[in-house]
Amino acid sequence: MSLQGKHIVLGITGSIAAYKSAVLTRLLVKRGAEVQIVITPAGKEFITPVTLSALSGRPVVSEFFAAGDGSWHSHVELGLWADLMVVAPATAASIGKMAGGIADNMLITTYLSMKAPVFVAPAMDLDMYRHVSTRRNIELLKGDGVQVISAVEGELASHLCGEGRMEEPENIVAAVERFFAGGNGLGKKRIVITAGPTFERIDPVRFIGNFSSGKMGFALAGECARRGAEVILITGPTALSAAHPGIRRVDVESAREMYDAALKVFPQADAAILSAAVADYRPERVCGKKIKRAGRESFTLSLVSNPDIAAALGKMKRPGQLTVGFALETEEEERNAIRKMEEKNLDCIVLNSLNDEGAGFGYDTNRVTLLSRSGERRSFPLKSKVDVARDIIDAVFDASRNSTACNETV
Ligand code: CTP
Repeated sequence: MSLQGKHIVLGITGSIAAYKSAVLTRLLVKRGAEVQIVITPAGKEFITPVTLSALSGRPVVSEFFAAGDGSWHSHVELGLWADLMVVAPATAASIGKMAGGIADNMLITTYLSMKAPVFVAPAMDLDMYRHVSTRRNIELLKGDGVQVISAVEGELASHLCGEGRMEEPENIVAAVERFFAGGNGLGKKRIVITAGPTFERIDPVRFIGNFSSGKMGFALAGECARRGAEVILITGPTALSAAHPGIRRVDVESAREMYDAALKVFPQADAAILSAAVADYRPERVCGKKIKRAGRESFTLSLVSNPDIAAALGKMKRPGQLTVGFALETEEEERNAIRKMEEKNLDCIVLNSLNDEGAGFGYDTNRVTLLSRSGERRSFPLKSKVDVARDIIDAVFDASRNSTACNETV
């Protein structure tokens, strides 16, 4: 019984595919899971709570209060009880509400209270599925750490054929089993991620910085947290927010602050992913008062070098701990990346080139090549940073289970 004793909240929304939720419930229960169904009012138009409570062995929850005695259905308790939440089928409306935090029914409040990882299996008409608003909401959910089990091609309720059909219950159960088996899950791993730029103060109003947005590091943090890892995200100044409850965010400003924060937490971590664009130098002296122009024709700033976080972690690394670095290069890209990987004792390095249109600082997309210490090389096409994060985590951690990082070759 692969899911013995696992607590699963199954969310059902108003789609024709809701009839498949009966099969999904049955399959989860047969594998030993305890299934608590939360259904939206629209969901009940498609499948009755009687069928679902008989299959799950628990009363189905739909309203905030029980009509008879007014007792409160606690979405907060469900959020604490669950080991996993699966929303299947997930309509365009519910995906939109989840992405926007519109908590106007029991299912969405449960989602907002959820402490466990969340999977959604969309189901809708092909035009709705490909609509820019649905795509945007799905990307938002992925960015928030939700695992999306993509809809598949097939005949739809409209009798049209195309993408939008909910993944088959057997395959949803397989994804759930993989998650609990650690197939692509990182449960119990503690991962340190550095992200964003560092700012090196010159005086009270000026600094040396760079154009890093932090998007790649935040996408990696979301991906690791979604897979059940405990993430410590050490970030330089950025406008981004990290929503997942599995992410502990540590805000820093300078390279030295980032260095101190990383060295403090790394001994208890399983891995460190160093995606921050750390300033190599800082002003030798920070002026206490705003530096005045005062008729000067030129101005020279004396800089001293900052500590190298990746290299320091590479030195203190114990067997079994992984360090993954990034390299943003403009020339002799692979040679430079490999040299950095060796000098900093990294297990793996993610190379992105400034020569690639749509890749690097500020963009929502990235095109990366993964290089490992054992000489493997893997290139990926231009993708959203959320999808790049998934590729990186798959490659790094699947490979580390087989004891060499990034060991797939293309
Ligand atoms: N890095 C770090 N601490 C630093 C500088 C870099 O942890 N002080 C990490 C980055 O987060 C990245 C990797 O080292 O994972 C490579 O960063 P990069 O700036 O490309 O390397 P440098 O060694 O600074 O080389 P250069 O700037 O000369 O290309």
